[in-house]
Amino acid sequence: MSKLGTRTLCPGSASLSLVALLLVTAGAACSSGDAVPSTGASPPSFPVLGEPVEQTPLPELDPEAVGRGQVLYEADCAVCHGANGEGVPNWQTRNDDGSFPPPPQDVNGHTWHHADQLLVDIVLNGSGFPQSNMPLFAGSLNENDVMDILEFFKSTWGPTERDVNWQATQRVQAEQQ
Ligand code: HEC
Repeated sequence: MSKLGTRTLCPGSASLSLVALLLVTAGAACSSGDAVPSTGASPPSFPVLGEPVEQTPLPELDPEAVGRGQVLYEADCAVCHGANGEGVPNWQTRNDDGSFPPPPQDVNGHTWHHADQLLVDIVLNGSGFPQSNMPLFAGSLNENDVMDILEFFKSTWGPTERDVNWQATQRVQAEQQ
């Protein structure tokens, strides 16, 4: 599958046709209102060999990884994504050149909708957006570094955000088996 076809990065509004196309392609629910799966309905089932993914409990955060991730975040990411991961206020509105401003990494952003595996790939290899202002970090960070940064992000998320990210992560794990 093409790189774009696997992307569900969704910083833009639904009026953006490219983003809308990506969402449709990926089958993801990224528009602001419906991103969080409703609970209480039928249990989640994933189309992997017809078998539901066994849900394992949300892992506890590792405080040392959070600390390492925060140091890396402040060095490499805060300049764009904000000292506290708040992003810039108009992050869903394109710049004049078609690129997007840096999104938040906290609960107000979109990062938590994605699986860890996808987030690592975005940080190391890019978002796949045709016009991106985010540098690729594959030359300076490794997967463990990015997982530490994600651990830091997770320490700022609430239970809902953590659960959405964890479910997405498990789904990818199951697909890769
Ligand atoms: C020069 C500015 C800049 C820096 C530095 C930067 N980013 Fe980004 N980041 C962006 C922009 C802009 C986007 C929006 C997508 C795009 O344009 O590629 C983005 C998108 C993202 C996303 C996707 C969010 C989503 O909604 O899915 C993640 C995750 C992310 N950045 C993490 C990081 C991490 C971690 C670092 C540090 C290692 C970092 N960024 C450094 C500008 C930056």
